Amino acid sequence: MYDIIGSREKAVAIIEKGDKKFAEEIMKKHKNVKSVLKKVSKRKGEYRLYELKLLLGDENTEVVHKEYGIRLKLDPKKVYFSPREATERQRIAEMVKKGEKILVMFAGVAPYAIAIAKKVDCKITCIEINPIACKYAVENIKINKVEEKVKIICGDVREECEKIKEKFDRIIMPLPESAWKFLKYAFKLSKERSIIHLYAISSENTMFKDAEEKVLKEAEKQGVEIKIINRQKVLPYAPKKWKVRIDIEVIHLN
Ligand SMILES: C[S@@+](CC[C@H](N)C(=O)[O-])C[C@H]1O[C@@H](n2cnc3c(N)ncnc32)[C@H](O)[C@@H]1O
Repeated sequence: MYDIIGSREKAVAIIEKGDKKFAEEIMKKHKNVKSVLKKVSKRKGEYRLYELKLLLGDENTEVVHKEYGIRLKLDPKKVYFSPREATERQRIAEMVKKGEKILVMFAGVAPYAIAIAKKVDCKITCIEINPIACKYAVENIKINKVEEKVKIICGDVREECEKIKEKFDRIIMPLPESAWKFLKYAFKLSKERSIIHLYAISSENTMFKDAEEKVLKEAEKQGVEIKIINRQKVLPYAPKKWKVRIDIEVIHLN
């Protein structure tokens, strides 16, 4: 099992297991793959990066990834990106209605914002802390010609949300390991009827229950009445664990 990130002209393959021989087989099979990187750690740190070791090919691993007619420039060694989440990004884009004001927290190289902006006429604000991801996000909104619709703020969600004065119709929180801890910032920028898409990690046995409990507890702590309106299994995360999405409607703010 491996991921290929890039285009027909230039791509990198990211493998979990295997040696140089496996890397050679991949490059033989996929002529566009110019580098093979191997994961040598789990995703870690604030930027959610793997440590990646070059097994074979070009040291320059910057690529332009193509999905659903969108182009995303990025270097997987320096920023978070998962090609496996393309369908999920489209699911979100399908829900957006014309004229919405949207906040994408933890925006990365802006794949959610661009997937939405390409489909719907709306205004999107992105917040991302990794300066390299911000640089790519700014470039990507230009490449995809959505600069009029998407704004990138480079900074920490905790600080940037305190400065924002407007309220949003929809807030996307794609940081599954700890998004619930940032719910108070999402509530601050919500209004009644706002929708929050919160990603979480849930164990297979209890599916959604553990994530929902955290969300409900945090809402209660913040004095916000919410309703969970939808639950989506997104992708397997680890043995017996799933990345899930909980859709929250804000009913009443204090
Ligand atoms: C799981 S990645 C998702 C990136 C992007 N939304 C995507 O789907 O490709 C989470 C992102 O949140 C960023 N991040 C983590 N903590 C943050 C914080 N406190 N404020 C802003 N961004 C943060 C990381 O740098 C990383 O790019």
